[in-house]
Amino acid sequence: MFNNLLVTGGCGFIGANFIRHMLYDSDFKGRIINVDKLTYAGNPENLTGVAEEFDKRYLFFRADICDAQAMAKIFDDCRIDSVCHFAAESHVDRSIAAPDAFIQTNIFGTWQLLEQARLRMDQMVLFHHVSTDEVYGSLGETGLFTEHTRYDPSSPYSASKASADHLVSAYFRTYGLPVTISNCSNNYGPYQFPEKLIPLMILNAITGDPLPVYGRGTNVRDWLHVTDHCRAIREIMLGGRRGQTYNVGGNSEKTNMEVVTRICKIMDDSLPALEDRKPRTDLITYVADRPGHDLRYAMDFSRLREEMGWEPVETFETGLEKTIQWYMDNHKWVDRVKSGQYRQWIKSHYGSLTGRA
Ligand code: NAD
Ligand code: DAU
Repeated sequence: MFNNLLVTGGCGFIGANFIRHMLYDSDFKGRIINVDKLTYAGNPENLTGVAEEFDKRYLFFRADICDAQAMAKIFDDCRIDSVCHFAAESHVDRSIAAPDAFIQTNIFGTWQLLEQARLRMDQMVLFHHVSTDEVYGSLGETGLFTEHTRYDPSSPYSASKASADHLVSAYFRTYGLPVTISNCSNNYGPYQFPEKLIPLMILNAITGDPLPVYGRGTNVRDWLHVTDHCRAIREIMLGGRRGQTYNVGGNSEKTNMEVVTRICKIMDDSLPALEDRKPRTDLITYVADRPGHDLRYAMDFSRLREEMGWEPVETFETGLEKTIQWYMDNHKWVDRVKSGQYRQWIKSHYGSLTGRA
């Protein structure tokens, strides 16, 4: 059904896990065309081995989704019939410091892809947009986000994603473009760039560096292992009702302090002790809070469960143990990300981005 699936942002954390999931762990038989601009968050080493193993079924283009000409050429040359759209600026703190790229990629870039799809409506089977629970804003102590919760984004990041969601829905209502949207909670797992809470804490706990906790660490996130998110996206793409939104969550609410102390405990048990035999929780350092910091996210994903039978497989405990092990086992990936060597490799292979695929 999807013969030529365009995956945008496939060199990022979730996109790379999704491409691996589709090619290695699913019955998908079509071709994946990965388009990624390779920003600081895009790392071709997240897909090491894939091009060699799937040479006829995997193609990569370095390109910017905002570039209409480059996108039109890829849609035509590769006969794109479906899109799974991950490409975005994804880090809340960066959106607070410098919102421009968020507006450009997340809003304008999404619109650009929608236009390419609309212009080829007769060949489009599906446009799936990968979005976030942050569009709903913040919960108080109780309650869950449902698909009917009013959008109320707090950060430039979440506002840009909310805007993109509205454009995707508008293209369904106005033009009949077949779309689905998934709004997912916080992901963790292999290949996550270490600016996000879990990989940052793991890598700092390995080296004995400070573990910066915003405010008092009482904010709550609902954690989902990335492989469960990838399965959910595939289910929605295959069985989701067109024009619908599906919440995806982990049933796994934790305060940030619970997450950080759990990481410290696992690492104290499995790594040599720090100097003076201090527990790693001694590395916790309270720092200034994030402006507009949402207190709590929690997802009601009963629509996805009832319509598609999807449930998370990993618990937070099993998923976190596996994730910590992955970062400890993959020294080369970690070293090249931390030292910026993956950027030098990109420069030597691709030069600076011209926007052409
Ligand atoms: P990421 O930052 O790890 O990866 C983003 C990828 O998009 C990178 O490879 C980057 O190079 C690429 N990209 C950025 N701008 C681009 C452009 N203009 N053109 C082409 N490629 C571009 O992000 P992630 O954590 O993998 O998130 C992927 C998607 O999932 C995002 O849309 C994000 O909003 C959404 N999401 C993330 C989470 C999470 O917890 N990480 C949860 C819910 C939803
Ligand atoms: O909820 C889904 C969202 O999850 C995605 O849409 C975003 O793309 C993704 O980045 C993530 O956003 P968060 O802001 O929730 O993730 P982050 O890892 O940045 O922060 C998680 C929590 O940890 C948050 O409450 C802020 C806190 N934090 C984060 C960092 C990086 C700290 O206390 N210290 C830190 O150093």
